[in-house]
Amino acid sequence: MMKQLYKEKYRQQFHFSPEEKWMNDPNGMVFFNNEYHLFYQYHPFGTTWGPMHWGHAVSKNLIHWEQLPIALFPDEHGEIFSGSAVVDWNNTSGLFQNGPGLVAIYTSADNYPDSDRPRQRQSLAYSTDNGRTWTKFEGNPVLSDVNITDYRDPKVFWHEETNKWVMVLATGQSITIYTSPNLKDWEFASEFGNNSGSHDGVWECPDLFQLPVDGDEGIQKWVLLVSIGDNHDFKEGSRTQYFIGQFDGTTFVNDNSDETILWMDYGRDNYAGVSWSDIPAEDGRRIYIGWMSNWRYANQVPTEDWRSAMTLPRVLSLASNEAGVRLIQKVAAEIETIRKSSEVYQDLTVEANQPAIFNMFSPLMEVSIQLENQTSNSFGIVFQNSEDVNTVIRYDAEKEMLLVDRTKAGDNSFSESFPAVQEAYVKLENLQIIIDTSSIEVFANDGKVAFTSLIFPNQPYEKIVLFSNEGNIRVSSLKLTELDSIWGK
Ligand code: FRU
Repeated sequence: MMKQLYKEKYRQQFHFSPEEKWMNDPNGMVFFNNEYHLFYQYHPFGTTWGPMHWGHAVSKNLIHWEQLPIALFPDEHGEIFSGSAVVDWNNTSGLFQNGPGLVAIYTSADNYPDSDRPRQRQSLAYSTDNGRTWTKFEGNPVLSDVNITDYRDPKVFWHEETNKWVMVLATGQSITIYTSPNLKDWEFASEFGNNSGSHDGVWECPDLFQLPVDGDEGIQKWVLLVSIGDNHDFKEGSRTQYFIGQFDGTTFVNDNSDETILWMDYGRDNYAGVSWSDIPAEDGRRIYIGWMSNWRYANQVPTEDWRSAMTLPRVLSLASNEAGVRLIQKVAAEIETIRKSSEVYQDLTVEANQPAIFNMFSPLMEVSIQLENQTSNSFGIVFQNSEDVNTVIRYDAEKEMLLVDRTKAGDNSFSESFPAVQEAYVKLENLQIIIDTSSIEVFANDGKVAFTSLIFPNQPYEKIVLFSNEGNIRVSSLKLTELDSIWGK
């Protein structure tokens, strides 16, 4: 019998994954002519990482995606590694005749001639038909440096105040900033980070953007995202840090001490994420998507015809607390398009050792919980199926620590690094939990803390159990909402 597309075992139902084969980083996200474009690192000939192309999908609402043909193929300059895309509104590049067009800025990856030393240089491609077809710029590559081997993942944006394009590029263990009037000629501006933040792995996939603090347009900060590659000395594998600071068009200045390390996500599976370019001012959101996997085991996860999905699209904002300014992530409001029926429970008391059990009436589900009166030392919520396979979200009230335990979540056999108890400090007030066929995304306190985790339960979870180990907890509201598949309707 022919396998049905998007019905395969473990296939994500409302997270984007390509029809088949291997995917990693999201690339070139840009909004243009009423479409959200999502390109991605793609290996069309296998389900493990291989010669990189840019795959392509488009969406009108960030949730329902249409798969398009491959956008960028390897060429005489090499494979197509990660990068970004922008709308060249004023034809600064001179690549367009009639009106604005799309320019992709990506890393061409090959080897130095007669050598096995990797060579990474930055190149351009442009499109005059809404990203459907692309022409490589004849002057490629546009930026290279023989001294830096890890030299990749350009993220480009237009900096209004200085009237220039700005590129942030991952350069070994730092971010180098370049500027350009036309996307073709790039000039060194500054370098950041050699002594700042985490250096647990190679720096990759930067992004730099401005956001208001606490919604106050008068107070603006710049956020620098930096993904750091896998290093076997650290159990977390690949993960993403961020810096908060100032940027004047040339230099990024960190607001925090060099020792401060800020993690974007406390789950293992949110990597190489960056934000959309050219979201209209009327919308004004900074919308982010990440690759929902981890280099530690990405090539081994137990899916057959396809490998890897993206996170849900998330809106980023900044909020201040005693410790400083922190990044908040909330699932984009467009998730509403897949919400179906819900069940709401109010004013529940869960007593010690008397769990409240709910039937999970759909394997695709969003669970929202508001908690009050926490008199318990340890409580939480378990998603489980009949075979005692479960994911446990537990709050340790004494330590004020939230834990997402996937050690028994399902198939763990493919990697010793996969079973994990993930943890973050937070004074828990509420939880939003989103379960797809092979992932669980947990947001605490309206997106102040996020945990993104893959899970591979053999059978879908069937029950939701609220438990308290000591004392009582009061749940002021619990809402279970069935979510719809985005495929094949
Ligand atoms: C990040 C990364 C990038 C690179 C791409 C190659 O996951 O290693 O630095 O451009 O993947 O596929």
